[in-house]
Amino acid sequence: MNSFPHPTPTSASISRRQFLAAATSSAAVGLAATRVSGGESPEAGVISNIDPGFVGPQFFDEQERQALLEVLESGSPFRYWGPGRPVKVQRFEEAFARSMGARFALGVTSGTAALDCAVAGLGIGPGDEVIVPAYTWWSDYTCVVQAGALPVFAEIDRTLNLDPEDFARKITPRTKAVIAVHLLGGPCDLEPILEVARARGVAVIEDAAQCVGGAYRGQKLGALGTVGIYSFQINKMMTSGEGGALVTSDPLVYERAARFHDMGTIRQVFLDRSGPSQVATFAGENFRMNEFTGAVLGAQLTKLDTMVGRMHENAEAIYAAIGEVAGIRLRQRPDPRGDIGYGVFFEVRDRSTRDRWIAGLRERHVPASTLTGSVLLPLEESVIQKRTRHPDWPSFNSPAGKAIEYGAGCCAQTLGIFDRFVQIRIGPKYTQRINDHIIDAIRQVGGGLV
Ligand SMILES: Cc1ncc(COP(=O)(O)O)c(C=O)c1O
Repeated sequence: MNSFPHPTPTSASISRRQFLAAATSSAAVGLAATRVSGGESPEAGVISNIDPGFVGPQFFDEQERQALLEVLESGSPFRYWGPGRPVKVQRFEEAFARSMGARFALGVTSGTAALDCAVAGLGIGPGDEVIVPAYTWWSDYTCVVQAGALPVFAEIDRTLNLDPEDFARKITPRTKAVIAVHLLGGPCDLEPILEVARARGVAVIEDAAQCVGGAYRGQKLGALGTVGIYSFQINKMMTSGEGGALVTSDPLVYERAARFHDMGTIRQVFLDRSGPSQVATFAGENFRMNEFTGAVLGAQLTKLDTMVGRMHENAEAIYAAIGEVAGIRLRQRPDPRGDIGYGVFFEVRDRSTRDRWIAGLRERHVPASTLTGSVLLPLEESVIQKRTRHPDWPSFNSPAGKAIEYGAGCCAQTLGIFDRFVQIRIGPKYTQRINDHIIDAIRQVGGGLV
């Protein structure tokens, strides 16, 4: 069950990848399996296997195949040159920027790389603080530490995302940015976050890795803050296995990010978009996207609205039917229309009630669990120990870095919310029969527990 094809990060808490490997094991074997399951057991009659599957691969078809073949046959898998005229990554960037409503997009090797580029794009470094939700994925923490800056945790609230009030409380004169993560398919409450950030001179990095294609008040996520990032790893919506992107409408942020992703140098294609260079060469990384990845993502992007539309519809059908079930409070959603329907989430009285809910739902073959896919970062031993790759690393050697304390004390509200929430995964190919089965199961389990 745990033989997921990705290396699994070592962590004291349950990792998303381990969970999803178990929850979607039939999808992991490939295209054929996901086509057969489509979310429902092939046997007629009882529902015995509700499998959300990996989303993007369920939409792989002739379009991805053709685009990949074009790269193979051209002999040009590198984005900048080759015997053919490589254009896949370039075209993907242009289409992705248009689709997200930003001026510029940059294709990179992962969402983690995109976050590193965003932090570099904003010129964040030693002495700066970045506010990060206490429950999110590792990369939101590591991108700050890798820049030599100091991560400061803020609580999540019933949106399962950053609590805008706690964000405001955590700002100091050293705060350079906040990472507003749109976790578990739902947009965070951006308006108050953007308002506070504007008033206090704090840049907003939107992390839409788990919410690609989501929106807030009619605008696509990622383009509302100073800079936005996305992941195309297999657990996300559209996918190329691994991959990521950054968007911004700020030419200086774009140039710095584009330089960082390519050893600090800049190619003409980026200056053609953002204008004359404003920054001298500096030391960067190599996070360049290759043409195979660009080919697959170009095809997947054309299907993103369909994927999101189906997941969203399934989730909404379930949310609409369970509002009256006794003993549960639905996830607070600042903009339900922008929710990509990754799951249905509700809060119950306490941790033991949550566990009984999950057991009851699983008995009825509903893919229910605690919240998955992220980490309670302040509880991680490496975070508590402030461990870095070198003892003199600047993040925790400043006076503020020495003084800061992580652990349960800095995120009590987040821990309580984590303990009380139930998650049910949604698949894009769930049928009405499956949605109805999930609704019935929730009513039955709720009826037995109150
Ligand atoms: C919220 C969040 N941010 C960033 C990332 C990093 O993306 P990647 O796995 O592509 O590096 C992830 C990936 O899981 C994520 O969930």
